[in-house]
Amino acid sequence: KKLKDSYIGFFAERGHVEIPSASLVPQNDPTTLFISAGMHPLVPYLLGQSHPAGKRLVNVQKCLRTGDIDEVGDTFHHTFFEMLGNWSLGDYFKTEMIPWSYQLLTEVLKVNPDHLHVTCFAGDSNAPKDEESANLWLSLGIPQDRIHFLPKKDNWWGPAGTTGPCGPDTEMFVDTKPQSGPVDFETGCRQGRLIEIWNDVFMEYNKNQSGGYDRLSQRNVDTGLGVERNTAILEGHQDNYLSSIWQPIISQIENISHLSYADPNNLRPMRIVADHLR
Ligand code: SER
Repeated sequence: KKLKDSYIGFFAERGHVEIPSASLVPQNDPTTLFISAGMHPLVPYLLGQSHPAGKRLVNVQKCLRTGDIDEVGDTFHHTFFEMLGNWSLGDYFKTEMIPWSYQLLTEVLKVNPDHLHVTCFAGDSNAPKDEESANLWLSLGIPQDRIHFLPKKDNWWGPAGTTGPCGPDTEMFVDTKPQSGPVDFETGCRQGRLIEIWNDVFMEYNKNQSGGYDRLSQRNVDTGLGVERNTAILEGHQDNYLSSIWQPIISQIENISHLSYADPNNLRPMRIVADHLR
């Protein structure tokens, strides 16, 4: 609750209107079965329709990602989760959003800036290398060796379904084991030591029916910060299921099964049962 209140409050102070979480079942969208991101119910507004609450929105959205189901069982993937997000519908862009991300993470959530890594889009035939985002991170004090350029499969987000708004993103990762010394980005991600905590998507493109990318009539910002991951990190855990969100469910599974989560053989099955129950 504290995380949600801090996030919503930060963006309310910057002119954003809080909107309610939409239903997990999409309304008027045949391209996908479930809402998988905060931007998803906002697709018409990212495409240019005017939103009744204005051009700056913030919320906490319930999400279901069937695509992640095979990842469930590790320390930080879930099918159902909540996502904090804020949007610019053709209003502010990178020069406002990246400094706000840095400020919220380091000043409000008190993430140590020395533990942050960021990634930016490396560029391809559809869109250029995102030097602007990288330079903004540099100007905020993130050193070059913690800014990583990655291709479309890593640093491009969307569309949520088969077609729709999408664009290059910049992703923020936190080192959950800084005491172990410097870590190579790829190794840290593979080990589950570097965890993605927030994602700013710069939605300038629309993926069309033939798989091409058209420019949108407006430049949007779409961000998403996972409530479960960030709660675990803020509570000092390297396993989401040890956080206050999941412990009641894990305890109940232990009570019913007479097995212990502390036994390494039970970690994966208990996480899967907990995720699917939730
Ligand atoms: N749509 C992006 C995501 O889901 C940012 O919210 O990560």
